[in-house]
Parts: sequence; structure tokens; C-alpha cells
Amino acid sequence: STLIVTFQGLFLISFFPISGSWNVIRYLPSTVVNTTLRLQALREAMSSVNVSAYIIPGTDAHLSEYIAPRDARMAFMTGFTGSAGTAVVTLNKAVLWTDSRYWVQAERQMDCNWELEKDVNAYSICCVCDPCRMYHCIMVVFSNPIETYESYSYNLVPAKLMLKSIPDNLVDGVWTDRPLIPPDNLIRLPDRVVGRTWQMKVEHIRTQMTDNPYKPTAVLLSALDETAWLFNLRGSDVPYNPFFYSYTLLTLNEIWLFVHKDRVTEDLKLYLNSTCFPLAHCVQLLEYEQVRVMLKNYMTTSGVKVWIGTEYTNYALYELITPEEKLLTSAYSPVLTTKAVKDETEQRILRDAHVRDAVAVIQLLMWLEKVVPEGKETEMTAAYYVNECRSKQKDSRGPSFETISASGPNAALAHYSPSNATSRKLTVDEMYLVDSGGQYLDGTTDITRTVHWGIPTDMQKEAFTRVLMGNIEISRTIFPSGTKGECNMLGRRALWEVGLNYGHGTGHGVGNYFGVHECTIALLIVNFECLQVVSLPEPGYYKENDFGIRIEDVVVIVPAHTKYGHNYLTFETVSLVPYDRKLIDTSLMSPQQVRNTRCVDT
Ligand SMILES: *[C@@H]1O[C@H](CO)[C@@H](O)[C@H](O)[C@H]1NC(C)=O
Ligand SMILES: *[C@@H]1O[C@H](CO)[C@@H](O)[C@H](O)[C@H]1NC(C)=O
Ligand SMILES: *[C@@H]1O[C@H](CO)[C@@H](O)[C@H](O)[C@H]1NC(C)=O
Ligand SMILES: *[C@@H]1O[C@H](CO)[C@@H](O)[C@H](O)[C@H]1NC(C)=O
Repeated sequence: STLIVTFQGLFLISFFPISGSWNVIRYLPSTVVNTTLRLQALREAMSSVNVSAYIIPGTDAHLSEYIAPRDARMAFMTGFTGSAGTAVVTLNKAVLWTDSRYWVQAERQMDCNWELEKDVNAYSICCVCDPCRMYHCIMVVFSNPIETYESYSYNLVPAKLMLKSIPDNLVDGVWTDRPLIPPDNLIRLPDRVVGRTWQMKVEHIRTQMTDNPYKPTAVLLSALDETAWLFNLRGSDVPYNPFFYSYTLLTLNEIWLFVHKDRVTEDLKLYLNSTCFPLAHCVQLLEYEQVRVMLKNYMTTSGVKVWIGTEYTNYALYELITPEEKLLTSAYSPVLTTKAVKDETEQRILRDAHVRDAVAVIQLLMWLEKVVPEGKETEMTAAYYVNECRSKQKDSRGPSFETISASGPNAALAHYSPSNATSRKLTVDEMYLVDSGGQYLDGTTDITRTVHWGIPTDMQKEAFTRVLMGNIEISRTIFPSGTKGECNMLGRRALWEVGLNYGHGTGHGVGNYFGVHECTIALLIVNFECLQVVSLPEPGYYKENDFGIRIEDVVVIVPAHTKYGHNYLTFETVSLVPYDRKLIDTSLMSPQQVRNTRCVDT
């Protein structure tokens, strides 16, 4: 027999009893990518432009949450495919930073050329580019490069670094089989799901520009959902989100749309060139890659001022907006803040989408209740089943993120998604958590339910009930319009009472046939006065190596009718899937909380 010892996941030391000798075999597990040649090529490219360190962010030029395969530069260079991370390559070292939920995966996927750096302090120093959301930036080291290399992982001093952006992406230069731009044409939303035409939206944004005391003359849109929202267009360039590669430069009387022009049909061209006079005021199409040239050109005009949202503008564009008096920044562009407020049509259609989505989730839960006792189903088959149920609903456009289908201890990992290697069999002895969502032409959904098919422990019931109490407390809160603050305390109070807590945020915005993660509830209430937006209360509780609980609903902010005051708001829950009664201990809840829970018998 053979004794196999893995050493740092990368070597196998095999002992063959026949000869009695030890052989050390260099061995790469199948999950590892050999990055030797690509690193060598990148370093050659770096040397040719006198660069001593090159930063490779995990995101794309639009700071997207989900990226297209052709933008997976960090994954290409490192082998690591997790959704968060930053890689840095120096002439003789290559290091990846990622957060703790990906450490195991990174060790499994990276070869010996790469080091995994877990020190968060080193991260913040090294990735000085992160706060300003740079895209392709490099560090040119002024001090002795060798000395700097020695201290690289541990104590890089920002003062010794100069960040410099270079026009060409060096990774693209060495990525010979980089995936192509997807060929799919852009699509226009059907009128039945559109409340505001693109012309109305453009007018609305221009009004905000002229009303702004700093008098911007243009807005530059970089996030993929900004352009898609403005023109009521969608695409399929990135997974889970209906986006297409684009930028928009919108001035007070002109609109430049940067896209891959051959993906714009004649019909769409007409659509973008109608109801505006003179024609020059309609949309002018420019190639996607021309955005830098066009922006640079625009900046030479006297008296211009460009408004950008810093959260989603890459450094390559940002650096062109000079001098400073020609720049106006806010965290989010006026398009993102306007988009966050759903209009009447959007509110109406998203309610419809939630009805169909609830059907799919209820189908899953009913099916599981029937089949789990037979012992044949797994986390994977359940995830597959709910995706199938959704796909049969009208206007379905696929899942809105990778389904989290987790049972027992797997559910205690808040961001776990099953794979063939990790998928557990579902049993009546364990709790099960399913966090999933769908894209529909008329809305985006995101819902989490936790169930138990057998007999839950008292602790599980109590924790679930307290999580539910947090969910209810948030959704029944009445607050004055313009309230600054967070729903965090409300979501946690019942858990804190008994010394329980959860380690993630309490909610986020959701788009309408857009991304499933938009601004947070806190941000929205701070920034808007009266406003009908969609967000989620999602409290949870996770017991390591045992179970995980999360309850997540989508809510719409609606006017509240109060006895004395005006301009009060509250949340209306639009998710329609019941909670598991077996896990609810109503004796812990207040009568109001019980009344606010649709499915609890009193
Ligand atoms: C990786 O590829 C290089 C170049 O082809 C080769 O020399 C090296 O042996 C490979 N490394 C491993 C561990 O397979
Ligand atoms: C790199 O540095 C060398 C030596 O200082 C210089 O001759 C060369 O022009 C530089 N190349 C670039 C692309 O900056
Ligand atoms: C609209 O027409 C103008 C003038 O012919 C042209 O320059 C522009 O590219 C057209 N826009 C679209 C979207 O086709
Ligand atoms: C997982 O297993 C199923 C069934 O054996 C197989 O069809 C599928 O391709 C596997 N998926 C992956 C990612 O290996």
C-alpha cells in the first residue's frame, strides 16, 4: 500500500514499501494551474515598461460584482477562481490576497509560484489602489527594488511607492487564449416592463445636473447597470447579471454611448435615434474602446466639468479628468441614486415577479419535504431543482446568483455554495438553508429560507425564532422620511438578548432585472426622502460546525399611515414564501410580532 502525505497541497511524498525508499515527487493536484510560463511572460512585459510590481484586481474595468470570463485576469494569472481577491506580481514574487472564506480554495488552486497572504494589514498597505478603485495600476518602486522586495509582504511603506497607471493591460498582453467578447446583441426591454423611456430618464438626469450647485456639464457612467438602466437595454456579458460592456458620457445636449457597435441591431439604432431633436441630441454610438480618447478630447473643451460616482469609476478614466476644477465626485452617480428608487411601474411589476418566484421556491420546499426522508437528495440536487422551477416561470432569465443550498454545518458558512466535492446528503436530522434568487424581465428576486424536516433542538428553534423576530422587527418599523440610520440594531436585538449574533450586514438593495446587490438600506434611507426602494432584511445566526439560519425577504419602502405624523415610511414585504412553522416558538414573540408573521397560527 502507499502512504500519501500532502505537503502544502502541492507535493506528494510517496512511500513505496517495496524498495523502502522515499520519493519526493513534484506534483500538482488537478485543481492547480501551472502559472510558470504566464508569470514569466508578464514579468518580461513588466520589465519592458520598467515596472517593478503589477497589481491585478479581481474585478473588471467597471468594478462589477460578477465578471465575464475575459475579465478574469486574476484567476488567469493565479489559478484562484474565488470572487474576491487582489494579486500582486513583482519581478521575483507573486502574492495573492483574499479574505478568509477563500483561503482553503486559494491553497488548492494556486501553484508554488504563488503565495497566499493572509495578513490584512499587509493587504491594506499593498493594495493602496483599492480605496480609489483602480483598474490597471502598477507600483513603481523608488527605493532599491531588492530591498523593497525583501520587505514586500510584511511592511511595504506607502511612501516608498508610486502608483502609476499604464494604458495597456499587461495581463491581456500575455493572455493568448483570452475569451472573446460575447457575440450576443444587446436587447431592448419590452414596453410592458418600462415605466420611463430612456428620453425621460436622460431628462431627469440632466435636471439633476443643472440643479447641482457645482454645475457639471457631463456625467460619466462606468458601472454596467448605469448605462443599461438609462437606455432600458440589457445584455448577457456577465454571469447572473443582465449587463453588457458599456460606458456613457452624457452632457447637457449630447449623449455618447460606448459599446461594441456590431452588437447593436438596426432596430436598436433607430430606437436610440428617435424622439430627440435635433438628431445630434440623440444617442451617438462610439466603439467601447474609444471611451478614453473621447473623454480626453472632451476634457480639452473649456468650461467643462465631469460628474463621476467614485465607487464605480476606474482609475484609467478618473486620471483623465483634470485639472481638479473639472471634476465633480459623489460616491454614486446621479444615475445610480435615481435608479435605486423604483417607479410605480417597477414596483408593480416586481410584485408580479415575486409571486412567480414564490411559486418556484414553494415547489422546492414541498418537493424536499416529500423526498428528503427517502434519503436520495443532496444540496446539489436541491439547488438544481429550484433553478429548474424558476426557469419554468414566465419571463425567467436564469438565477440572479449562485444558489446557496446548505445543510447542517455547511450552512454555518455564510457564503457556501455546494459543489460535487462538498455537497451533503439532505436528511431529516439536519437544518437546511436555501438562499436563491431569479432574474425575470420584470424583477430580480433574492430569498432565504431555513427549514427542518425532522425534530429541531430547542436551541435551533430559539435561534430561528429570534432571527425571525429580527426580520419582523425590521419590516414593521415605521420611520420618518429621511431617517439616517441602520436597520442593524432591529435585526439583532432579539439575538443580542440571549448573546447570539451574526457576522454579516442586515440588508442590501435589489435591482429590477439588474444586480441582486445594490446600495444598502442605510444608504438609501440617508440619501432619499420619500422613497420607494427595495431592500432586504436578512438577519441570521450561524453555529460553527453545526447549523446556519438566515431569513431573507425583499421589501418595498412605502408610505406609512401614522396617527399624528405625515411623511412616515415603512416596509412592505413582497416575498411570499412561508416560514417553517416547526422552527417558530411563538412564546418568545410579542403579540405584534406574531400578528406580523403571515404563517403563524395563534
Ligand atoms: C510548469 O510548467 C513549466 C513550463 O512548462 C515546467 O517547466 C514546470 O515543470 C511545470 N511545473 C510543474 C510543477 O508541473
Ligand atoms: C526604462 O528604463 C530605461 C533605463 O532607465 C530607459 O532607457 C527606458 O527608456 C525606460 N523604458 C520605458 C518604457 O520607460
Ligand atoms: C443617429 O444618427 C446620427 C446622425 O446620422 C449618427 O451620427 C448616430 O450615430 C446615430 N445614432 C445611432 C444610435 O445610430
Ligand atoms: C457533478 O456531478 C454530476 C453528476 O455526477 C455531473 O453531471 C456534473 O458534471 C458534476 N459537476 C462538476 C462541476 O463536476
